[in-house]
Amino acid sequence: MAQPTMDRIDARAKVTGMAKYAADHNLPRMAHGHMVTSTIGSGRIVSMDLSAARAAGGVIEIYTPDHPLTFKGTLPLIAAVFAETRHPLADREIHYHGQIVALVVAETVEQARDAAALIKVTYEARPPKSSFEEAKQNPSEPPETGLPLGKRISKPLDVDIEAALAGSEVRVEQTYDVPARHHNMMEPHAAVAAWQDGKLTIYSGTQGPAAHALELATVLGVQPADVHVVSPYVGGAFGGKAFTWAPALLAAAAARALGRPVKIVTSREQLFTVTGHRAASSQTFGLGAHRDGRLNAIKHHTTSQSIVEDPGYRTTPKYYATPNADIKLMVTSGMNLPTATIMRAPGDETGSFGLESAMDELAVALGMDPIELRVKNHLDSTLAEGKPYSSKHLEECYRVGAERFGWSRRRDRPGAVTDGDWLVGLGMSTAILDSGRALTTVRVTFRPNGTATVACATSDAGTGMWTIMAMTGARALEVPADRIRPALGDSGLPVAGNNDIYGAVGSAATATVTPAILAAAKEAIAKLVEHAATAQGSPLLGAGDVRYERGRLVGAGMSVEFGKLLTLTRTGEVGALGSSAGLDDSHAYASYAAHFCEVRVNRWTGEARLSRFTTVVDAGAILNAKTARNQITGGVLFGLAAAMSEEGRVEGATGRISNANLADYLMPVNADTVEIDVHFLDYPDTRLSPTGARGIGELGTVGAAAAFANAVYNATGKRVRTLPITPDKLLG
Ligand code: MOS
Repeated sequence: MAQPTMDRIDARAKVTGMAKYAADHNLPRMAHGHMVTSTIGSGRIVSMDLSAARAAGGVIEIYTPDHPLTFKGTLPLIAAVFAETRHPLADREIHYHGQIVALVVAETVEQARDAAALIKVTYEARPPKSSFEEAKQNPSEPPETGLPLGKRISKPLDVDIEAALAGSEVRVEQTYDVPARHHNMMEPHAAVAAWQDGKLTIYSGTQGPAAHALELATVLGVQPADVHVVSPYVGGAFGGKAFTWAPALLAAAAARALGRPVKIVTSREQLFTVTGHRAASSQTFGLGAHRDGRLNAIKHHTTSQSIVEDPGYRTTPKYYATPNADIKLMVTSGMNLPTATIMRAPGDETGSFGLESAMDELAVALGMDPIELRVKNHLDSTLAEGKPYSSKHLEECYRVGAERFGWSRRRDRPGAVTDGDWLVGLGMSTAILDSGRALTTVRVTFRPNGTATVACATSDAGTGMWTIMAMTGARALEVPADRIRPALGDSGLPVAGNNDIYGAVGSAATATVTPAILAAAKEAIAKLVEHAATAQGSPLLGAGDVRYERGRLVGAGMSVEFGKLLTLTRTGEVGALGSSAGLDDSHAYASYAAHFCEVRVNRWTGEARLSRFTTVVDAGAILNAKTARNQITGGVLFGLAAAMSEEGRVEGATGRISNANLADYLMPVNADTVEIDVHFLDYPDTRLSPTGARGIGELGTVGAAAAFANAVYNATGKRVRTLPITPDKLLG
């Protein structure tokens, strides 16, 4: 079946610069805030000399720990686990390098920044505890958060994993290290805040407008209904805009204190510290197998800087069958580092690098093809609870992928294939990502101009949600998509209670929103049919058999288009809310992919370059082939970036992130990639929802680094267990 496809409806606005992002808003009397950050990694502020800054031109106010802004509450719900809970400017204590120590508000952005440079802070500095390498030697049990993160998984409950490993015929025991990583979305965190009559309107890019409103309201001490978040366009988020960070809180609080709008734009360097990142982690694996490749034991012990990055819990229970498993997380505590948060495929990206590298090492130890090893350990139900997966076609992904990619050309012996100075290697990996669905509410509204609005307080962070909403509305109302007006990115739009306020997270937005669109459309059509039969002015007034067909009301041997009907009845709109039903939790849900990667490693320089990549994806129904492919391509590159170059480096003596800029923090560019070959299987997951769509946003990211690392091994015989795979690790 041909998968539907449609260009992004927001594309023109974006490429022509018409799309207004948060910082593009300018309001009358708006002032500009500039954050000042600490230059020590641990200690306290002894004094601040603000005299020169105060005297500088255009300065309106300077907030510091001695003259702070007013915050009344702490972040609600799970936000407290995933974002910074200390209020900005709370006290003189410095917990990490790059912590906010002052906010300068001035008439212009230049004046604010210049005055900020004149502030002199005297610190009493302590040696920061900022080396993960040191801290991981002495980790602690994870804190109790009420979330499953950090939960130990044992199978059987009293497993003696060391004995199980010792009793296995073939073993791999290795440690895999993944450094801290930063979202670096194109649009930095920015906020324009304005108060009127005790109500806040804030333009601030977010993955969940309703959650952002609730978090802001709670911290500011106002009612959620009194905070209006406007965020129609988001320039990338990757988990970094799922929760509320200091820039929005400071803009809102300063605007309230000053009685005028305030804009704050985070600088690229500040983004590394005043907003979250992916925590560094170190994973120790023990894989034990029978000689025929069947797994007997999986040990997966991780130490991470944060409970948020839990690769064991996220990854290992859903990959391979084994009678013995021991999965646990330990965390480093009290580190002088910025607060970690979720980042695209949290835990999954990291865990898949570890597990899929270890599986490749096991295949080598067994002398077995890596695909054969994986198929042999195929899992039909979750490892711990034994819940069956709703729809799983991973074996077909391997088969189709191997064929498309030419896997049969791979030679087991590393270094067997060369091309001049280049060693050519092939590697593969499995990608699995839990697929969820939250409850949400959507409003579908028919209008007299012949269009229909489909509205939900979800978000499009570049994912394609605008387009998916238009396409799904068109399908439900049987009209062309250009007659659908999607509305999203606004906390005033419908959501379900507090169930889906987090919007576009967990690769679940499409699976969440599209069933609710179908439900709302059904309700709205029923109302429209009733309207046609009962409203004064309707040509179908009194007809007993009115029905809705392709945008028209049909009955009594005639028909009228819905816009015309509403015009004739002088009705502004007819619409209804609809909600998706709850998830059938008798099954487990996940999306799958098989990644295949070819790298070429220069034998003299150690440079490892991507040369081919194929991925075959089983993600349920594909609702828009074009944006789905964009998502997978972007996700694969996101994961490959972890393998190729990305790494937040912390300077030991100071705790400073030494590469907090886009010159030194190396992200892949076009020259680093090739056309990614993406192929979708098409098995609608109708157990998950009526639209059959599962998650894809984070799936590509999962496993991509392992596919690259495994290809590097096949090319060179060098197994790199510490990301990124830079030339120094391949030389010598
Ligand atoms: Mo994604 S890290 O769940 O925003």
